[in-house]
Amino acid sequence: MRVSQAVQSRLSVRAFLPDPVPADAIRRVLDQAARAPSGGNLQPWFVDVLAGPALESFRAAVRRDMAPDAPPQQAEYAVYPPNLASPWRDRRFEVGEDMYALLGIGRDDKPARRRWFANNFDFFGAPLALFCTVDRSMGPPQWSDLGMFLQTVMLLLREEGLDSCPQECWAMVPDTIRRELALPPSRMVFCGMAVGYRDPAHPVNALVSTRAPHDEWLRFHGL
Ligand SMILES: Cc1cc2nc3c(=O)[nH]c(=O)nc-3n(C[C@H](O)[C@H](O)[C@H](O)COP(=O)(O)O)c2cc1C
Repeated sequence: MRVSQAVQSRLSVRAFLPDPVPADAIRRVLDQAARAPSGGNLQPWFVDVLAGPALESFRAAVRRDMAPDAPPQQAEYAVYPPNLASPWRDRRFEVGEDMYALLGIGRDDKPARRRWFANNFDFFGAPLALFCTVDRSMGPPQWSDLGMFLQTVMLLLREEGLDSCPQECWAMVPDTIRRELALPPSRMVFCGMAVGYRDPAHPVNALVSTRAPHDEWLRFHGL
């Protein structure tokens, strides 16, 4: 597979087949992804992979911790800046509306939207999940290193015929993740990732998110 084919065929998959992810494939992907660059070669990423009984018991813990009578958790970080301005808020709105349209969920059907959002906390039915965490002392430059590492993971997954969905929503339940994965308090949760084979029949996987025309973000100087 060419890099461009991996880039073009990657999308956030939000419905998976139950087929398990081969252990050798995920090991290969993660070992290779560690070739991602990082400032000063800090390699600030930590990764925990969950599958099989470990993933089932994690799912059960999440269900308990997210029950209506469970104590709320302090989110690890704000996923978006407060008062997100245009054009960023418009782009966020558009991808959400496009997704709910494919799912046949109307703008005013808040309960159905909440139910769909809750699938995040089931990793959209994926047979494998991973979490990316980072030491709290790390700053924005190291967080960008995490992004480079994770995109490398997602592209290598394509080469293995696998799909993924990166998930910042997990920042909402950091206490559950820290407890279940026995992470030290010094460790901050960046995101989770659902991994598996896409369900081609599910309408949500037909979502092809748009991209802003390049004149909104690109300038060439001297060429
Ligand atoms: C760091 C990161 C976190 C994300 N968190 C979530 C999430 O919690 N739930 C979700 O459904 N999608 C999540 N997404 C997927 C984005 O919505 C998606 O990447 C974007 O809409 C572009 O679509 P595409 O990935 O299909 O190209 C996340 C993406 C990234 C890069």
